Amino acid sequence: MRFFACTLFLVILAGFLGVLNLNGQNIPEQNQACLKCHTSQAHTIYNDWTEKEEKRLMNPFYILDTIQLAVGVHQVFSCIDCHSMDYETYPHDGQLKLEPMMTCIDCHGGDPTYEDWQFDRIEEEFQKSVHYELHGDQFSCSKCHSQHYYRATARTSSDLREIVDYSNKMCLSCHDNMTKYQLVSEDAKPQLVDIHNWLPNQELHFRRVRCIECHTEVQDSLMVSHNILRKEHATKNCVECHSANSMLQASLYKYQNLRVRTETGENSQKSILGLFTVKNTQEDFSNEYYVIGASRIPYLNTIFALIFFATLGGIVVHTIIRIIKK
Ligand code: HEC
Ligand code: HEC
Ligand code: HEC
Ligand code: HEC
Ligand code: HEC
Ligand code: HEC
Ligand code: HEC
Repeated sequence: MRFFACTLFLVILAGFLGVLNLNGQNIPEQNQACLKCHTSQAHTIYNDWTEKEEKRLMNPFYILDTIQLAVGVHQVFSCIDCHSMDYETYPHDGQLKLEPMMTCIDCHGGDPTYEDWQFDRIEEEFQKSVHYELHGDQFSCSKCHSQHYYRATARTSSDLREIVDYSNKMCLSCHDNMTKYQLVSEDAKPQLVDIHNWLPNQELHFRRVRCIECHTEVQDSLMVSHNILRKEHATKNCVECHSANSMLQASLYKYQNLRVRTETGENSQKSILGLFTVKNTQEDFSNEYYVIGASRIPYLNTIFALIFFATLGGIVVHTIIRIIKK
């Protein structure tokens, strides 16, 4: 049993390191030509008129991040799966600026392959949101989700801080950035810090809970609620989170809870690692902390596991030395 758990631990570790190693190498070969220009501050072009090579600066908003591309859900795509083939020549044809781009729903809507992700339900909810109500189709899914980089963090990550950070950056990329905000609205952007000054420890809250926790209605049937409500309906009530059975169970911790449920459902016998991470029932899970989230730190589990194995190793060595001395 211990041997099994130990092997499992090593396999997981190796897998994790493997994933780290692969980052950056996932980019399809055919994209390198585009990325040669679209990852650098400057590029060289041959000028037919002057018959000289010339160096030019790249528009900083058109510089892509290969690390994020390589882990995004569309990492297998060629650039020209979504963009016109005519981009293969440079200078790009000016008309291409007006090329209509596909939206998430054009590709994923009504497709049973992606049923699990409930794209159509998400679209429905999104169309009720304040963003859509005020700005219509101009406010597309891509305003929050980059088609280049999107990665389903809440579903795949087990690090709550990463999930919160990833999600909040989507909102902040606009609500904290005048350049992007003015693409949607002419009005002055309200200062988030001032708006939320009724909330003590604002910075800590923004690191530990997602904006959508307070700004959407929790939807049991949806993994990530997409209906951003008008500000009058935002949660100001501390007890919604600062209580044993808080709404965070149904929103931020939804994926964790599901994982726990399937893990305990499929395998009632706990592994050694499980002793530290997996709780038996949903109730254990919710009643454990006054403010849940406080100890949901994944690397602590690893540290506990390391301490455990170190102790185990210590006992074995100690026993061997005693046997030898005898
Ligand atoms: C020689 C460098 C170079 C190469 C190679 C290149 N681009 Fe570009 N691209 C640019 C520059 C510079 C711009 C900025 C606008 C302009 O000058 O046309 C740009 C702009 C763009 C835009 C934004 C257009 C707009 O104005 O909205 C897209 C999309 C794009 N490129 C896609 C591609 C794709 C896809 C490829 C590969 C098939 C590619 N590019 C290859 C240099 C390059
Ligand atoms: C899954 C579809 C998809 C793929 C694959 C894709 N793009 Fe894009 N790209 C888009 C969309 C959609 C936009 C417009 C974004 C918006 O409207 O905010 C865009 C915009 C751009 C822009 C303009 C700058 C910006 O961010 O708005 C550049 C440059 C660009 N893409 C280059 C590339 C290159 C180079 C590749 C290949 C490495 C690539 N794209 C692959 C969908 C894609
Ligand atoms: C041009 C068509 C196209 C567009 C536009 C597009 N996708 Fe995709 N998407 C795909 C395809 C095809 C795959 C499967 C890729 C693969 O097999 O690795 C995919 C994969 C995904 C996945 C992972 C599915 C899985 O089962 O692992 C998610 C999540 C996703 N897309 C979300 C989005 C979101 C959000 C948008 C809009 C911002 C979007 N997509 C826009 C075609 C598209
Ligand atoms: C106001 C910002 C915003 C808009 C607009 C938006 N989303 Fe999202 N979406 C999010 C956030 C935040 C998440 C959670 C990201 C994470 O951690 O995975 C998310 C998650 C998702 C997921 C993954 C859900 C899961 O089960 O893991 C899908 C699929 C998705 N969005 C599709 C869409 C589609 C389709 C649209 C347009 C109809 C859209 N989104 C518009 C903010 C937005
Ligand atoms: C603890 C709950 C909570 C969190 C977390 C939270 N908000 Fe709010 N937010 C509120 C409440 C409540 C209001 C309404 C305040 C009022 O009207 O006095 C509000 C107001 C707003 C407004 C309206 C501004 C205006 O007056 O037009 C915006 C925009 C906003 N929040 C964005 C965000 C973003 C972005 C985040 C994440 C970085 C976030 N909020 C996190 C509770 C929260
Ligand atoms: C691309 C930019 C952009 C992104 C991304 C974005 N928003 Fe907004 N949001 C706006 C704009 C613009 C308004 C103001 C609408 C108006 O008054 O014209 C707004 C308004 C709001 C409001 C106030 C609604 C009211 O009653 O006045 C809230 C709350 C809000 N956003 C929350 C969020 C949250 C939470 C996210 C992330 C999930 C997010 N926004 C992502 C642009 C954005
Ligand atoms: C959306 C859920 C949510 C809401 C609403 C909320 N909090 Fe919090 N609060 C948290 C989380 C999560 C933490 C971080 C706990 C941790 O990780 O230490 C936190 C931390 C705090 C802390 C700091 C505790 C410490 O250890 O330093 C205080 C004080 C606090 N909240 C007070 C309030 C008050 C007062 C309100 C109502 C005005 C409120 N909170 C509303 C979720 C929430």
